[in-house]
Amino acid sequence: MKILVIGTGAREHAIVWKLLQSPRVSKVFVAPGNAGTATIAQNINVPATDIPSLINVARQHKIDFTFVGPETPLSEGLVDQFQHAGLPVFGPTRTAARIEASKIFSKALMSKYGIPTAASQSFSNLDKAASYVKHHKLPIVIKADGLAAGKGVVIAQSTNEALDTLKSMMQDNALGDAGKCVVIEEYMTGREMSIFTFSDGVTLSPPVTACDYKRVFNNNEGPNTGGMGSFSPPDFYTPELSERAMREIMHPTIQALSSEDSPFTGVLYGGLMIHNSVTRTVEFNCRLGDPETQVILPRLKSDLVDITLAAIEKRLDKQVIEWSDEACVGVVMAAPGYPGHYPVGLPISGLSDVDNDVLVFHAGTKLDSDGKIATSGGRVLTVAAMGATLSQARQKVYNNLPRINFEGVHYRTDIAQF
Ligand code: AMP
Ligand code: GLY
Repeated sequence: MKILVIGTGAREHAIVWKLLQSPRVSKVFVAPGNAGTATIAQNINVPATDIPSLINVARQHKIDFTFVGPETPLSEGLVDQFQHAGLPVFGPTRTAARIEASKIFSKALMSKYGIPTAASQSFSNLDKAASYVKHHKLPIVIKADGLAAGKGVVIAQSTNEALDTLKSMMQDNALGDAGKCVVIEEYMTGREMSIFTFSDGVTLSPPVTACDYKRVFNNNEGPNTGGMGSFSPPDFYTPELSERAMREIMHPTIQALSSEDSPFTGVLYGGLMIHNSVTRTVEFNCRLGDPETQVILPRLKSDLVDITLAAIEKRLDKQVIEWSDEACVGVVMAAPGYPGHYPVGLPISGLSDVDNDVLVFHAGTKLDSDGKIATSGGRVLTVAAMGATLSQARQKVYNNLPRINFEGVHYRTDIAQF
């Protein structure tokens, strides 16, 4: 069986790595991939959003199914166009992907179907939005409606900050069309967690959970990033909480999307806030998380190809999906200056010096002109390890990390510590 994976990050490297464990797979292609995916699969130099070229690639290589990593091609209708071309593909259609691509859609859906989340209101008019923030308590959360690569949410601590944010998004187009409309919502406190479930539109797989660390520095200080590390499973997440989150949030959301003529096939990712045993939705994503994928796929005991095909063919109810009880911890190694400006082309050393059971998933890497691996992005690698306990997994990762090096590398040293 031949599979095409779309995307370029450490998430996609982990997806390729897991798919290749299936005895059913003869070859995996990745578009566009990175230097890590090139060592185990065949990279194809087509961007993840060039849908017509991706269709040609799938046809040319007689791909059995395509697995989509990132949200942008999903929100641009990749799945619809592949289906139209008669090509099997795993991921939600454009209308189902609105659960992530439009915060206004997602909040309206939650409100209509009684799915627990923060109180909110949506605005397309700056004056009305400004008046709303003046009459609501602080902090207050302002969210751009559209996809904004992790920059679309501002937690405003003062009314002035809220007003400045609204002006910058709605009037000055700081986020382009994504910020023309906004959701303003109540600030929630508690512990945040990500929950993932495979869906064929009706049946949901047993969920798996992880926590990620968005701030660049230890103790959650510094600016937001795409994610600096992750661990799975969170120790505070009990089977009771899991059962409730599935019953109150994940199942009703899949049913709601079906009722709205947008059945969801793919991975539904719930960002949850847990406070005093009450779980509310922070947001939904329509795909696997990054860096969460790098710590959940190592815990997947079942065959990812079987699961994906069962979801595409709408027979997930007959598919066994098992997660290991072991823990997994992943730490992101980032380029100097990330998440601000950073240099590229820094040679990476020590990649093969890690223990055999330590996983190194590449993100921003490429082969330089001498055929050596160098940095090409802000988040460069995720290094992950399993352990009988979180603290054992954590220790293993941090023992191995210093063996890999590039000039100015930085990473958090407190992943999975709290
Ligand atoms: P999102 O893009 O919706 O995941 O938001 C990014 C981050 O902002 C989340 O992971 C939370 O840490 C934070 N956030 C979003 N909405 C809220 C909220 N209503 N209350 C508190 N924190 C929030
Ligand atoms: N871990 C955050 C995301 O994948 O959006």
